[in-house]
Amino acid sequence: MRTETGITIRREDYQPYPFLIPTIELEFELSAERTQVRSRLVVERRKDVLISSDLILNGEDLTLVSLELNGVVLSQTQYTLTEATLTVHNVPDRAELVIVGTCQPAQNTSLSGLYVSGKHLFTQCEPQGFRRITWFADRPDVMSIYRVTLRASRSEFPLLLSNGNLLQQRELEAGRHEAQWHDPFAKPSYLFAVVAGDFVCREHHTRTASGREVLLQVYSDVGTEDQTEWAMESLERALRWDETRFGLELDLDRFMIVAARDFNMGAMENKGLNIFNAAYVLANPNTATDGNFQAIESVIGHEYFHNWTGNRVTCRDWFELSLKEGLTVFRDQEFTADMMAAGLPATEAASARAVQRIDDVMGLRLSQYPEDRGPMAHPIRPESYQEISNFYTATVYSKGAEVIRMMHTLLGEQAFRAGMDEYFRRHDGQAVTCDDFINAMQWALQQTAPQKNLDVFRHWYRQAGTPRVSVQLQHDPVAKRCTVTLTQDCPAVGVEKASPIVKQPFHIPVTLGLLDDTGKSLSPQVTLELKEASQTWVFDNISTRPTPSLLRNFSAPVLIDYAYQDQELALLSAHDDNAFTRWEAGQEIASRKMIALAQAWRQHAKFEELDPLLAKSWSASLLAKDLDAGYRARLLSIPPSHAVIERMAHMDPLAVLEVRTRIREQLGTTHAATLLNTYQANLTPGQYSPSPGPAGKRALKNLALTYLMASKHPEAANLTQTQFRHATNMTDRMAAFTALIHDGSSELNAPAATQFYEDWQHDQLVVDKWFSTLASSPRTGVNELTGLMAHPAFTMRNPNRVRAVVFAFCMSNTRGFHAQDGQGYHFWSDQVLALDAINPEIAARLARVGDQWARFIPEVSQRLHAQLERIATHPTLSRNTLEIVSKALS
Ligand code: PHE
Ligand code: ZN
Repeated sequence: MRTETGITIRREDYQPYPFLIPTIELEFELSAERTQVRSRLVVERRKDVLISSDLILNGEDLTLVSLELNGVVLSQTQYTLTEATLTVHNVPDRAELVIVGTCQPAQNTSLSGLYVSGKHLFTQCEPQGFRRITWFADRPDVMSIYRVTLRASRSEFPLLLSNGNLLQQRELEAGRHEAQWHDPFAKPSYLFAVVAGDFVCREHHTRTASGREVLLQVYSDVGTEDQTEWAMESLERALRWDETRFGLELDLDRFMIVAARDFNMGAMENKGLNIFNAAYVLANPNTATDGNFQAIESVIGHEYFHNWTGNRVTCRDWFELSLKEGLTVFRDQEFTADMMAAGLPATEAASARAVQRIDDVMGLRLSQYPEDRGPMAHPIRPESYQEISNFYTATVYSKGAEVIRMMHTLLGEQAFRAGMDEYFRRHDGQAVTCDDFINAMQWALQQTAPQKNLDVFRHWYRQAGTPRVSVQLQHDPVAKRCTVTLTQDCPAVGVEKASPIVKQPFHIPVTLGLLDDTGKSLSPQVTLELKEASQTWVFDNISTRPTPSLLRNFSAPVLIDYAYQDQELALLSAHDDNAFTRWEAGQEIASRKMIALAQAWRQHAKFEELDPLLAKSWSASLLAKDLDAGYRARLLSIPPSHAVIERMAHMDPLAVLEVRTRIREQLGTTHAATLLNTYQANLTPGQYSPSPGPAGKRALKNLALTYLMASKHPEAANLTQTQFRHATNMTDRMAAFTALIHDGSSELNAPAATQFYEDWQHDQLVVDKWFSTLASSPRTGVNELTGLMAHPAFTMRNPNRVRAVVFAFCMSNTRGFHAQDGQGYHFWSDQVLALDAINPEIAARLARVGDQWARFIPEVSQRLHAQLERIATHPTLSRNTLEIVSKALS
């Protein structure tokens, strides 16, 4: 049984749009029930593009009121209206088109187009939401100057915002008012935005590097004025950073950020009017954790950086999405790393950067690696798609950023910067492709190294899959010579299986060090450039067989295959002077042992002794007090279950969870005294600051607490309860709360759950934390979760709440989701279908939980497959979800 699949759009079919639309004037009569939009377009036929004289515009869920061409009302024979398009026939070379239509924001639950959130109106246009507001050439290569007039009831919508500069505001009759906005930069429709409502606003005046005065504003719900200071500070830091690191200034007089409660993604870079998921704006020490503070800074940076990488230079079509997303993620990662390291002495700065790198790489491995071997695998520049919103993926974003980072590694900071400058010099104001970006980088590379090029490197944009690099090391003690052979391999994945391509070798920078058996460096660190299927390098003057420290700083998004001996990993985890690979070695030890223990557990249902190597390397890190606390917290974290499961030939989530639980229990029991000391030694009294020093201490202290809780240490419950009651910041409160809910006895966790909700029910973002802690608790099965969904504060309409409950259960609650009776899988398909009727983008994301069905142990695999079939045969499935499940089943 197979359902039909959607229409596939291919990159190779790109055609330029046959018209230019230099200007668009929009007039909105805003209201939640029915908004009228009058659009006046100037259209000019492109002489260089020979296609029929018809003008085809996109439009969805709209009602047409009237249509005029050059002042003449068109009759029904002069245009054709379908569900998705408006075609105007016989358009002259230059024409003015006036379209009046209406849409219904209050009925719009998809959160794409114009929609209602709370009492406000918001738009979301990327990638194809503008066509849900008015008919237009809704594609990124059609760039226009926008003039926007907004009219609405003053009492309902006292603030009327759009892109660019405010031209004027005036009162109208009958309690209505009007605002006029003008954006001086031509932009594609996906960057258009309107916000109407009642907000509080934090303002800050500052000057750009060249001395221009600019106004920064952060708008949020009334009552949240004490939660926007960090966002404003982050915005100003982002401004300064882009000036100093890339020489890029804010190009507008005013830059606005607005927080929305209902939002499908993290945030959106609309020109001059960024709209954010409130979760990435609102924070104060009492409501937000260290992790929240950091995420806010990085998302604010990300959207701000889009102003150049995305807005000034945009994408030719959506296949080129990584042009702006990969590059902007790279920029926000560098921003965060620079902020973390700011003001610290060199060694501490290095470890702060390493912490950032570890967290980014963990994210990549947890989300992108599985994607790259599943049914949705695609190159960072996909060759085809059915529904573009399904391609805002970890591959396009995180792997895209890794590909930019590799170019940065290959060129070095200076040449990379020269390449960026050249990119803007060539393409400012244009809609371009990833090739254009690489060309600018290649030009910069050849300024300093004329013999080098990026020809092989380009394959990263065309080929999917995570390359595996096998390492062979040989040592000749007589010749004192060491040879290192790297061999790469990347079999077909995802769509490559259906339509095979000849895969070429990738250009892979492998940064490596060689250590002697006391951990000292035997030769300076080098970056090997693997460009062929297999290559060998020779190192002279190496008297003893070295231990290689491979892929330092994670120099490429690959899998490394090297037959490390246990003692070699122990050596690296104790002595490698590269903080990243040192951490990596410890994780490798733990993962290997966990897989072995999980397999044994599956066979004899018993947990064997904790491996001495794992115990030893872990306790060495516990005792390494000279290391930075935040870094030590990473060293002491047992790899998350998902990361380990991902490495198994037959993924066995419950077995991994079981051994992970036992390992934490045992480590906690064996090292209770040291953990208690670690807890006490890392308290952070005094005023709260989210900076890496104190945040690292909190991470370490709270990790110690979870080990003590996991091992049911007699003092742990008290300690945790005391911390829960007396915490002076949300990081400590959440850590204690999570420990009580996930690891506490039943006498502890029910009262904690009640207390937390009572204390925080007024704050929606904190209530999300409460929901997600409960939903991801190993105590929560489908029945408990269903109870949670009956809570009056639960709603399927708010994506953050759905993520906190449904996604948290299906993605972070291994025990509940994978429960033996299979109820978790049934629950999952129920929720996919329920969401699909409300918000297809969110439903399709949840559907991706089924992607990996074929890689699980047979009983899991069969059950997931049955649920996928159930979803796929649902009669009214959205295109979004249909693409995901049909690919999973193909
Ligand atoms: N372009 C946004 C970003 O990455 C993400 C986004 C995509 C938001 C689609 C909404 C809709 O910054
Ligand atoms: Zn982005």
